[in-house]
Amino acid sequence: MEEARLIAAALEARGRAYVPYSHFAVGAALLSADGRIFTGCNVENASYGLTMCAERVALFKAISEGARGFTAIAIACGAGPCAPCGACRQALREFAPDLLVIMTDAKGKEVRKERLPALLPSSFGPEHLDP
Ligand code: THU
Repeated sequence: MEEARLIAAALEARGRAYVPYSHFAVGAALLSADGRIFTGCNVENASYGLTMCAERVALFKAISEGARGFTAIAIACGAGPCAPCGACRQALREFAPDLLVIMTDAKGKEVRKERLPALLPSSFGPEHLDP
C-alpha cells in the first residue's frame, strides 16, 4: 500500500535528521507522479537561520533529479503528527497544488491527512504571475 510505504520511508528518513539544536527530528517522503519516492530530513546549522526543513529537502532532491508532479507526501514528527510549516506549504504548492499531505508521529501510529488547499487556502502560484 502506497501510504504505508510512504510513511515507512518518512520514518526512516527521520532517523537521519541532523538536529543538535532543536532535537526535533522530522522525516519526509514525497511520492512523484512517476512512482519514485524522495526522502528528506531536517538539517540544522550552528547559524540557526540556515536550517532546512525535511519537506523542502525532499522536494529539492526530487526536483533536482528531474521529477515534477507529486501526488503525496508523508511527514513524520515527534509525539504527534505535525503539519508542514508555511514555507514548505508554499514550496510544495509550486509543483503539486492538490498534494495529499499525510502527517504522522515518530512511530507512524497516529495519522492525519489533508489536501494542500486546506493547509494553504487562497494560495499564490505560477499562474498568478503576469504573462
Ligand atoms: N521542521 C521541519 O523539518 N519541518 C516542518 O515543517 C517544521 C519544522 C524542523 C525545522 C527545525 O529543524 C525543527 O523542525 C524545529 O523547528
